[in-house]
Amino acid sequence: MSNRVPGFARSDNFKTQFHILSIKEIIASRRTSKVLAKSPLEADFDQALLESLVNAAAYAPFHYMAANSHREKLSDNAPEPWRIYILNRTICRQLRKWLIGRNDKTKVAEMLAAADMLLQVTWCPTTADEPAGNAEPDGFDATQTNMEHIAATAAAIQNMILTATEHEIPNYWSSGGSLRERETFDLLGIPHDEILLGSVFFFPRNADQNQNVTMFPGKMRERRSFDRTWCHRIEGLNMNSSSKSTAQKVTTTVRMGRNSKVSME
Ligand SMILES: Cc1cc2nc3c(=O)[nH]c(=O)nc-3n(C[C@H](O)[C@H](O)[C@H](O)COP(=O)(O)O)c2cc1C
Repeated sequence: MSNRVPGFARSDNFKTQFHILSIKEIIASRRTSKVLAKSPLEADFDQALLESLVNAAAYAPFHYMAANSHREKLSDNAPEPWRIYILNRTICRQLRKWLIGRNDKTKVAEMLAAADMLLQVTWCPTTADEPAGNAEPDGFDATQTNMEHIAATAAAIQNMILTATEHEIPNYWSSGGSLRERETFDLLGIPHDEILLGSVFFFPRNADQNQNVTMFPGKMRERRSFDRTWCHRIEGLNMNSSSKSTAQKVTTTVRMGRNSKVSME
């Protein structure tokens, strides 16, 4: 039986030519790298390899199908709850110009000057009482289905940034800032009934040797704890617990706005 994985073609002598990182090594070496440039970089990177990172998303776990209103927009009615929009280097540079033209003073423009690829990764909220197409912009119900749609989409992003790490491609999962605004969605043709989970930047491999860029790590990088205090071993069962069930159903509907404004109904 072939052990070839679709979407990850490799020559047979690849393993002998390169040190293949184990999955543990890849997980441990993944890190946020924000690469900023004042003017567009003349990068020369294999766009096909970059775009192949998206194939890794296809293997992410997902529990529920996206709602019909989302699926029917795809030619094969694909069930996955995530959507990925690929912006190649040329489009990144055009988007940078557009943001500068709008007087955007954030670092996003500088990252778009350095990026070889940006992925706008959205998820498809399921709305109980109305077709998703008519839903409030960026609003979603705090249901288990939606929680799991977000979780699946996060797994898809993690798959892609781990694959980028394997290829030594610096990457950065960002909340998006101006890239999550309605005008940017319109500019890129992203439907309003999808919600951005991440603007994921991929930068040139040799960025750390380039004099024309500045690089920053993630804010929480040094705060990471390895003591596993967030991990609890269950030592026994609490048979005398007064609560009937520890698994409580979420009944509150929370509408979360595009800029994280939360309102409770
Ligand atoms: C959902 C999500 C959104 C993030 N958004 C931002 C962001 O908007 N700005 C930022 O500086 N870092 C963002 N990060 C990256 C974190 O800052 C980074 O993961 C953290 O600092 C730990 O660093 P490391 O990724 O190098 O381990 C985001 C990470 C996640 C998972």
